Amino acid sequence: MSVRRSIVRGVGGYLPARVMTNQEIASRLDTSDEWIVQRTGIHERRIAAEGETTSDLGLAAARAALADAGMGSDAVDLIVLATSTPDQTFPASAVTIQAELGITRGAAFDLQAVCSGFVFALATADRFLNSGEFRCALVIGAETFSRILDWNDRSTCVLFGDGAGALVLEAGEQPGERTDRGVLTTHLRSDGRYRSKLYVDGGPSTTGTVGQLRMEGREVFRHAVGMITDVVEDAFKATGYGAKDIDWFVPHQANKRIIDGSAHKLGIAPEKIVSTVDRHGNTSAASIPLALADARVDRRIKPGHLVLLEAMGGGFTWASALVRW
Ligand code: UT7
Repeated sequence: MSVRRSIVRGVGGYLPARVMTNQEIASRLDTSDEWIVQRTGIHERRIAAEGETTSDLGLAAARAALADAGMGSDAVDLIVLATSTPDQTFPASAVTIQAELGITRGAAFDLQAVCSGFVFALATADRFLNSGEFRCALVIGAETFSRILDWNDRSTCVLFGDGAGALVLEAGEQPGERTDRGVLTTHLRSDGRYRSKLYVDGGPSTTGTVGQLRMEGREVFRHAVGMITDVVEDAFKATGYGAKDIDWFVPHQANKRIIDGSAHKLGIAPEKIVSTVDRHGNTSAASIPLALADARVDRRIKPGHLVLLEAMGGGFTWASALVRW
């Protein structure tokens, strides 16, 4: 019996031109390249230029994804943008991208689940495509975290960077077999008891300011691997797949130690990990689609490959998805 699935047609990424190295940060703060590399695996990150907005980044990634799909923007009837750093409090930055792409039909909205945002957005778009309400979605993760960092706080400012990535998803019939292409399963979790472990100390209804990122890094780290492996096990249970079936593991890129620890606990071989944290730092909701774009550019991910996505971040939120390319 055939089933309707959300099939990946294209992927694209965009990084601002400006590279900020660890050495540059160490020249003005009490930190070192050695500490940052040892504790996080990060060597450098990108920083958006003055006036370069989250929607600019997201638009460039969306255009790259549409070009990769060989599709025009007229095919798109849904845009879900995962971001915690929108251009403005409202309207959604997704509508700016929609307007720049010349799309006047369908719907565009932002979704906020911090570093898990891209997987939440993928799950949301997948449901709309499966229900038949929309046919072709741009799922975008775009962030300018450099704008909400406290550049005097060495425990957070060394970790994050700016960037954007996007997927084009199109609804299509598949045979309903193990070889089906598309989004096979998604699993979303949140637990607001942990909301003060990683947050921004401002907002429209509290301070009336944008605020800056605050994090108890050690506490986030302590929970990360357990939450990630739990939600990946949920994806395995739902599909009958296991670690040995995975072709590529594309995790949220927060810290190399968290990525390697999660892969090890799940029994996923190191050579299956797609990692960009060394060059991008943590780009929050943009990190997974940026890593996917990286693996697309060098043609590591091929049609038919089974790709495991996972993320964990502020809220706490955590999520997984299994996608057959
Ligand atoms: O996207 C999801 C959200 N974020 C994360 O997943 C991040 C999760 N957390 C982490 O990745 C790690 O906890 C960090 C990389 C943030 C920190 O690594 P850690 O091994 O947990 O270090 P720590 O926080 O336990 O700090 C160890 C020491 C401290 O000094 P004392 O108290 O031992 O004297 C810190 O003050 O390192 C110090 N420290 C630094 N030293 C040099 C903290 N930041 C820095 C720094 N440079 N940038």
